[in-house]
Amino acid sequence: MFRESDTSDLAVRLGERCRIEPPALVGRKYEGWKEALSIGDDAIIRPYSVIYCDTSIGHHFQCGYFVIVRAECVLADRVTLMSRVTLEGRVHVGAGTKIMAHVYLPSRTRLGSMVFVGPGTTFLNDRHPIRMPAEQMVVKGAAIEDNVSIGGGCAILPGVTIGEGSFIGGGSVVTKDVPPWTLAYGVPARHYPMPASLREGNRPEFMYPQVDLWGPHSDPSWSPDE
Ligand SMILES: CC(C)(COP(=O)(O)OP(=O)(O)OC[C@H]1O[C@@H](n2cnc3c(N)ncnc32)[C@H](O)[C@@H]1OP(=O)(O)O)[C@@H](O)C(=O)NCCC(=O)NCCS
Repeated sequence: MFRESDTSDLAVRLGERCRIEPPALVGRKYEGWKEALSIGDDAIIRPYSVIYCDTSIGHHFQCGYFVIVRAECVLADRVTLMSRVTLEGRVHVGAGTKIMAHVYLPSRTRLGSMVFVGPGTTFLNDRHPIRMPAEQMVVKGAAIEDNVSIGGGCAILPGVTIGEGSFIGGGSVVTKDVPPWTLAYGVPARHYPMPASLREGNRPEFMYPQVDLWGPHSDPSWSPDE
């Protein structure tokens, strides 16, 4: 059951029990927009965030202050974006993924399910910006597979794939693909065997407790296998 709203500036289809705190702009139109923004049940969107049309967001979305989500993004259920996260257009984010404050995701970045991204990490999508003739320009986002954890302050270069379950140390510059279940850190990031303490993957109880800070929407029974 959706509530429809289509005022002059905004077009959004909202699920049940969504909390949108003004002055957030939810369903912002732009020239050439096609579809209203769609958001599932139990979303919480904090003031000063802007989410565009032609984007689709699942249930239990949580969004801090000054977040920007541009057009043609697809966010699965239970995605958390902390304050000042920016998702340029055509970004995909899998279920249960949590992105800490000040993270930048350019267009065509793909994050899997249950991914953690530490604060201030920057993803990149253009290896030779502003120096290539348009016909030679290659815009290629990073692909981050399920259950990856990326530390704070990292740079993830264009087109890099980080394999399932891998762990990237804080401050790393990831210049090439990281195999699954690998520890990588440093500038440029080198690959190391995963220590036993990190082998279990991301734990839902640490990914999700943020709901406790957000009030009555808390759902401690949630598991990523839903
Ligand atoms: C990579 C990481 C998991 C390694 O932890 P660890 O297994 O306990 O490793 P240690 O602290 O014993 O460090 C082992 C060696 O690697 C170095 N090292 C550790 N982390 C590093 C990093 N991120 N970059 C560069 N070198 C690093 C240490 O200096 C040490 O070097 P040495 O043997 O020459 O003394 C951890 O340091 C890290 O970066 N975690 C992510 C933190 C983060 O960003 N959190 C975000 C949420 S706040």
